[in-house]
Amino acid sequence: MREELMGSDFQSWVTAQQARCEDVLHELLPRAEVSPQRLHEAMRYAVLQGGKRVRPLLVFAAGELTGADAARLNIAAAAVELIHAYSLVHDDMPCMDNDVLRRGKPTCHVQYDEATALLVGDSLQTLAFQLLANHRLNDDPQHQLDMIKLLALASGSRGMAGGQAIDLASVGKSLSLPELEFMHIHKTGALIRAAVLLGAHCGSIFPAKPDFAEKPESATQRDKLDRFGKLIGLAFQVVDDVLDCEADTATLGKTAGKDANNGKPTYVTLLGLSAARNMAEQLHHEALELLVEFGQSAQRLRELADFIILRKF
Ligand code: IPE
Ligand code: IPE
Ligand code: MG
Ligand code: MG
Ligand code: MG
Repeated sequence: MREELMGSDFQSWVTAQQARCEDVLHELLPRAEVSPQRLHEAMRYAVLQGGKRVRPLLVFAAGELTGADAARLNIAAAAVELIHAYSLVHDDMPCMDNDVLRRGKPTCHVQYDEATALLVGDSLQTLAFQLLANHRLNDDPQHQLDMIKLLALASGSRGMAGGQAIDLASVGKSLSLPELEFMHIHKTGALIRAAVLLGAHCGSIFPAKPDFAEKPESATQRDKLDRFGKLIGLAFQVVDDVLDCEADTATLGKTAGKDANNGKPTYVTLLGLSAARNMAEQLHHEALELLVEFGQSAQRLRELADFIILRKF
């Protein structure tokens, strides 16, 4: 993350939390020497030394809000990042976006092979749930079970995987604004939303609710945090669409301009670059309003919301 985008205190925090995340993942992933070596090596290749780690950062920041234990947050952050890394490995495969570059390196199926990439995704996903089941995340076992359900829902056909299915079915089509929003809220938003909630639920303020149903009263702090996650999750993908058009491959560490090449409907194709940027800013503004009542304890979450909008990669 670039120095000029944020204060030096936030930059130092990000650098420290990224290193923390790297150490945790390094320890939790199977060693490359352990059989089957090639699969374990490929899992480590896909996860380690790459990425902005935005979702783990959100877990840590939301955990600060609820005074959560650091060791519990490490597990939640690792689980979310493993799901994310799996989604990228599969997203890049020839049957999906057919990309050769990810995080500045050849994609997993290019570096290894397609069957290995498929199994890397499978194994990262199951490792995430194994971690959540093996480690204590909350004093109340029922609450912990609800946290596991929350990540399962966010990852599966009613969350990320469902959003990816819509993305693939939409190639060459022009979606309406509500359809595009639905796709983005699922393919990218659901996991970001889950990151915020899981971090918060490692503390003990909120009752866990695994469902993502809209609550009309939307009055509790938990609901506000949930909505914050939903808004910044959507904003994250709007900015991803913009950067795919505006940024270059070297900066992104992934191939620029591929949405247009692949015939993907995006916020840029639907609204144009400047209206897409405005939309991301509007979502950011709404998200920040939801944090007002949390005061100083939500400062890192605010700064992460700023980063999601201002980022250049
Ligand atoms: C890229 O996510 C894929 C989307 C969901 C938009 P990130 O931009 O968080 O990718 P990394 O983890 O930093 O590589
Ligand atoms: C990816 O969206 C969303 C998931 C991986 C779930 P994109 O296909 O736009 O992500 P990039 O641009 O390849 O990172
Ligand atoms: Mg994709
Ligand atoms: Mg892609
Ligand atoms: Mg993209």
